[in-house]
Amino acid sequence: LRALILVGGYGTRLRPLTLSRPKPLVEFANKPMLMHQIEALVESNVTEIILAVSYRAEEMEKELTAEAEKLGVSLIFSHENEPLGTAGPIALARKILMTSDEPFYVLNSDIICDFPFKQLLEFHKKHRKEGTIVVTKVEEPSKYGVVVYEEDGKIESFIEKPQEFVSNKINAGIYILNPSVLNRIELRPMSIEKEVFPGMAKDGQLYAMELPGFWMDVGQPKDFLTGMCLYLASLREKSPEKLYTGEGVVGNVLVDPTAKIGKDCRIGPNVTIGPGVTLADGCCIKRSTLLKCSTVKEHAWLDGCIVGWRSVVGRWVRMEGITVLGEDVIVKDELYINGGQVLPHKSIATSVPEPQIIM
Ligand code: GTP
Ligand code: GTP
Repeated sequence: LRALILVGGYGTRLRPLTLSRPKPLVEFANKPMLMHQIEALVESNVTEIILAVSYRAEEMEKELTAEAEKLGVSLIFSHENEPLGTAGPIALARKILMTSDEPFYVLNSDIICDFPFKQLLEFHKKHRKEGTIVVTKVEEPSKYGVVVYEEDGKIESFIEKPQEFVSNKINAGIYILNPSVLNRIELRPMSIEKEVFPGMAKDGQLYAMELPGFWMDVGQPKDFLTGMCLYLASLREKSPEKLYTGEGVVGNVLVDPTAKIGKDCRIGPNVTIGPGVTLADGCCIKRSTLLKCSTVKEHAWLDGCIVGWRSVVGRWVRMEGITVLGEDVIVKDELYINGGQVLPHKSIATSVPEPQIIM
């Protein structure tokens, strides 16, 4: 089986992290986002994965090739000269995708869930039409494009930001398509959601499968942290031994074994601590991700933060309100940061009481 993962976006909404690393390589729960998908695909018997790259392709190629080898899966990098959107990259990979009659998976790189690849394949083979998209339930459908479908899953229509309730199911960014769908896609910047799926639905060729369990698009800081909470809760159900336990730990916490944790810290709920991180004595960390080799000094208090690679948070600092430190940022002692988005390599010496971008 084959899969194509869309990894060519700019990732602007996850700045400042994406100023240092392409979004698919940003670590979510201590693993590059993309590796969550690749591992799940490999578990579902996928042996060949096409990565549709355009922006920052070399970095991804360099980092992922070794990882893929370990997993025994072959990666093919399909390079775009201009961004081709969410459908164009499929046309670009036409030659590879056409060599088999088997359906192939397509997915967005920045979604987190219990990937339902096996069920998706089964469901798809049962209805025998051209495509199946995974849908997930949201609380406020009026903010999204919703999917309207019959009881058996056959999609009737897509309705953009419905004012009246028609459905609370949205596209989860995971599809399985027959190679015949290539006849509907052109080699140009093209949106699969807006230019391909509506036509397939009109022809009665597109079905929806409901996703059981959690789902989150983690392409922006607030949702990244919400997604982390959902992911850790699911880990608690499935493999609680992977979670960290110890003195001062509250709720679901993930800690890399190479992290150093001081005395009298209070960690959790919902914290991820990356490799090489140093947490000094008496820190309090909630609902946050500390990326690789970052340092948090004595008695700092963090809630709702992402601390970038190699950044340093000073003593008695208080940070909250979806604060994101880019790579190699220094926050001096005793400051208060609320909703700050700090660009890489900055040193902060005054408090930031209201949300703002600091460059
Ligand atoms: P933002 O800039 O924050 O909107 O992020 P993004 O560029 O990643 O956009 P979005 O989250 O809407 O993209 C959904 C998925 O499609 C992601 O996995 C992107 O990497 C991918 N994607 C978006 N545009 C392109 C493109 O032109 N080419 C390829 N290959 N992938 C794309
Ligand atoms: P258009 O550019 O108008 O098409 O909007 P969009 O589809 O890019 O919408 P938006 O930026 O609002 O959302 C992007 C994606 O994030 C949605 O398609 C969903 O996949 C996902 N998403 C956003 N908010 C939520 C949420 O609260 N819960 C869940 N589960 N998913 C969300």
